[in-house]
Amino acid sequence: MIIAHVTDPHLVGPDETLFGIDPMRRLDHVFRRIERDYSDARLCVISGDLADRAQAQAYTMLRERLATFPVPTRLMLGNHDDRASFRSVFSDTATDAHGFIQNFDDIGGARFIYLDTLAPGSSQGRLCENRLSWLADTLADAADKDVAIFTHYPFRGVGLPHFEGMLLSNPDAVMSLLKAHGRVRHIFCGHVHVSMSGQWDGIPFTTSAGTAHHILPDFSSRDARFVAMTPQFDIATLDRNSFRVTRVEAEEWPVLAISGGV
Ligand SMILES: [Fe+2]
Repeated sequence: MIIAHVTDPHLVGPDETLFGIDPMRRLDHVFRRIERDYSDARLCVISGDLADRAQAQAYTMLRERLATFPVPTRLMLGNHDDRASFRSVFSDTATDAHGFIQNFDDIGGARFIYLDTLAPGSSQGRLCENRLSWLADTLADAADKDVAIFTHYPFRGVGLPHFEGMLLSNPDAVMSLLKAHGRVRHIFCGHVHVSMSGQWDGIPFTTSAGTAHHILPDFSSRDARFVAMTPQFDIATLDRNSFRVTRVEAEEWPVLAISGGV
């Protein structure tokens, strides 16, 4: 079973650009690559910052594009998004009992959980008591399942000062729930526009650089340099005993040789 993780499209209104790039064109590039090579994906998750300035026009563009996208897609919110504006276009998106945009899917014996870490007015993300309670219940209900978590805000740092003060404000509360479950296999994150993998408290994570502008981390100067590499996304493969994540660039590269599959 494969799933696609797409993040941070930062869509803007028609005829607008962002840092001189066209975010919708770059997201479309990723969608076309998934349509061509991964149309059998069971799921596509877009983990927030759907619209750069939360314009309803940008959400409408996304909705119109998704109308022809063949892979079931779940949408999440990031710090650039606005719940009311999002809901004005995606009114059919499932929420928890308190109206937060968090829900889950059970696919192939695994549970995929999508968190709403948006804290309006703050540069930090947060899972309030209501959202933590929902997560605890959703994990308890999946005690016999492998679990993958999708979150916009990373739970712990990525080693760059740029993001200090721009992470989840209560990571210990979340991580203690995930560790207690015991079968959380992976955490997928957006927000940082950096490609990175590692582990937090023993649980593997990946961050995706996303489809719009990217950040090239320089761990010597500790600068965060904003660039526009080719749009990228992640493909996760779940087998019985493994969970693998592959980074895919939407750009085509020259093929040097082909060795046939067996
Ligand atoms: Fe972002």
